[in-house]
Amino acid sequence: MIVVREAEPADAEAMARIQVAGWTKAYASFIPDRIPASYSVDVRRSEWQKRLAEPAHATVNLVALEGAQILGICGGGPPLRDETITEGNIDAYTAQVYGLYVAPDHYGRGIGRLLLGRLAARLAASGHRNLCLWAFELNAYRGFYDRLGGKAEARAVWHVGDTVIREMAYGWADIGGLIEACLNEVKTE
Ligand SMILES: CC(C)(COP(=O)(O)OP(=O)(O)OC[C@H]1O[C@@H](n2cnc3c(N)ncnc32)[C@H](O)[C@@H]1OP(=O)(O)O)[C@@H](O)C(=O)NCCC(=O)NCCS
Repeated sequence: MIVVREAEPADAEAMARIQVAGWTKAYASFIPDRIPASYSVDVRRSEWQKRLAEPAHATVNLVALEGAQILGICGGGPPLRDETITEGNIDAYTAQVYGLYVAPDHYGRGIGRLLLGRLAARLAASGHRNLCLWAFELNAYRGFYDRLGGKAEARAVWHVGDTVIREMAYGWADIGGLIEACLNEVKTE
């Protein structure tokens, strides 16, 4: 059985490993390893330790566990507004997903949907009526957000040295619709 709970400081190591595994699997083909933080468990672990010890206002960090093993992580809160937007806008959105990563050996079991649904429900309970997130255009896994009804709302660019990485914002104008789309059960192995 998969259980979702609030992340705790002791989860930092497992969260870092899942995040780095996700970056390696989904982004390594187009984001250069010149961004050392992105692919380093040590750097990610200390980021998580700090973030979980002193959580930013109104942010939510969740982990999905099977037994004692963390199999997915998901976080969100107020929009970060740190993108260089080139088209469209997400001004009307009051909540943003900061990250969603499932352990690669467990893709396709419904863990991503469970985590996103729980995060959306937490944010809705705090008064948010909509939700957005940024995804890399070249991310082969972003079809997950299309599947759950996300609409393309904006585009942005991120410059890493001479590499231009294009991003797109998905939005759910009605957070309740997303919560409903996320209600399917998780598959047992
Ligand atoms: C994206 C990600 C979180 C999805 O998690 P997951 O647990 O494998 O997804 P789920 O099993 O919950 O899938 C839910 C639904 O989306 C569909 N789906 C999952 N991945 C998909 C994809 N790449 N393209 C299209 N549909 C997809 C599933 O088939 C399922 O649909 P169903 O209702 O017909 O069964 C996971 O693949 C991941 O961690 N990827 C790498 C990191 C990443 O890209 N994170 C997102 C950053 S923006």
